[in-house]
Amino acid sequence: MSNHETYDDKVIRQFAVITVVWGIIGMLVGVVIAAQLLLPVLNFDIAWLSYGRLRPLHTNAVIFAFGGSGLFATSYYCVQRTCHTRLFMPKLAAFTFWGWTAIIIAAVITLPLGITQGKEYAELEWPIDIAIAVVWVSYAIVFFGTIAKRKVKHIYVANWFFGAFILTIAVLHIINNLAIPVTWTKSYPIYSGAVDAMVQWWYGHNAVGFFLTAGFLGMMYYFVPKQAGRPIFSYRLSVVHFWALISIYMWAGPHHLHYTSLPDWVQSVGMVFSLILLAPSWGGMINGMMTLSGAWHKLRTDPILKMMIVALSFYGMSTFEGPMMSIKTVNALSHYTDWTIGHVHAGALGWVALMTIASIYSLLPRIYGKTEMYSIKLIDVHFWVATIGVVLYIASMWIAGVMQGLMWRAFNDDGTLTYTFIESLSATYPYYAIRLFGGVLFLAGMFVMAYNVYKTIKGVKVEPVLVPQPA
Ligand code: HEM
Ligand code: HEM
Repeated sequence: MSNHETYDDKVIRQFAVITVVWGIIGMLVGVVIAAQLLLPVLNFDIAWLSYGRLRPLHTNAVIFAFGGSGLFATSYYCVQRTCHTRLFMPKLAAFTFWGWTAIIIAAVITLPLGITQGKEYAELEWPIDIAIAVVWVSYAIVFFGTIAKRKVKHIYVANWFFGAFILTIAVLHIINNLAIPVTWTKSYPIYSGAVDAMVQWWYGHNAVGFFLTAGFLGMMYYFVPKQAGRPIFSYRLSVVHFWALISIYMWAGPHHLHYTSLPDWVQSVGMVFSLILLAPSWGGMINGMMTLSGAWHKLRTDPILKMMIVALSFYGMSTFEGPMMSIKTVNALSHYTDWTIGHVHAGALGWVALMTIASIYSLLPRIYGKTEMYSIKLIDVHFWVATIGVVLYIASMWIAGVMQGLMWRAFNDDGTLTYTFIESLSATYPYYAIRLFGGVLFLAGMFVMAYNVYKTIKGVKVEPVLVPQPA
């Protein structure tokens, strides 16, 4: 089928469908660990079901499998449409799908077995890391090769964001994973002590900045104007947004290491750059939202657009909260508490997941030659279930986090602690239950999506097969 199409859409179809599958699996594991925090017996005393092994499985599955596959699908879609050309080296693009999927399966097997480097978001051991580097370089060749053979002079801003994401992740992944292998399943990093911590959080924060932010901004800059049927509010602002964001993000990593053995001035540099980050982040959010000016009425009838605007609101919320949490005195309260988990999921569920879901709804009918999704009503149901789910998740974690921070620092007149740790834990239980409920709602939305996607793919094809996609 793909040879008769204007663009190479087969790889996009594969990545789009697997995004939904990984979304369900990753969030299901999230729901399981949320339930285990409430009822620890749910690990059934089986090592590979224990919290410590399932938690990295959750983060890898949602970030790299669900988010990553969504980014592959949308970047391949956007780069062809905006460059008016087919993919460079389509066979290599097909390899990125099979390679990336094989890597995720390797993660699904090794993480529950307890094979890990012990670095957050970089847990996978060295043979898998080498495979990631190979697939990622192939991705870069396909993406930048497609840009190089473009038929239009201009490179649309979404491609700048996708390009920065691809390049930076390659550099971060390779540098943070430099290690000396001892066996096939064990290696030691070449860094040690505070240097290791700094390299890890330079990687960790930029994984947030470039994987969880820049890539999804690429999505936003293509799909929001497309769905709204209007050009981006300010092209100039988007260019300023791009350069400001990529030059500032790199320096913010030390805010993960406040009050550690990292030199104090490095912590302060991290804090200051994090505070500055608020400005470009909000510039981007405003740019996305204002794209709807003159078309706000569409929010009444288009649940995909509604999801995108809510995703942008969560982007704004988490990029306001992040700079606040990077202030050392605020971090003294928030660090180690569930406030961090609330912040993470405001970004991860509210921004990353909703933007991905909305973009997949937007492109899916087009790559399957259909006029629209099988049921718009079900998209609306998904929107509400997911939004209520996120709100319950993050609100409960905020309250729990601030409560924990305050309980841990409360002193009696004689200098003894007012509360034991276990008291703070039992006070948190009701909030864990609310978070679990929010997570179940969000996951339920993913099942609604899977049904809608299935019915759309199986549904009647419209003629002509090709839907024109002007840039
Ligand atoms: C149904 C949806 C989800 C549920 C129920 C859920 C639940 C959880 C739970 C219980 C934790 C561990 C918290 C702790 O250790 O105290 C966690 C951590 C995490 N989740 Fe999720 N999650 C969901 C979706 C997502 C998505 C879609 C993403 C990313 C796109 C994500 C990214 C993360 C990250 C990065 C962490 C680690 C946070 C940290 O170390 O500070 N989650 N999640
Ligand atoms: C201007 C933007 C942002 C700033 C300055 C920022 C800042 C911070 C700070 C200070 C922490 C707590 C560090 C600690 O106490 O350990 C944190 C944690 C985190 N943030 Fe953000 N944040 C921003 C945006 C985002 C967004 C948009 C996302 C996700 C999509 C995100 C994902 C995370 C994750 C996953 C963690 C937990 C890392 C870990 O400990 O495992 N952040 N962020």
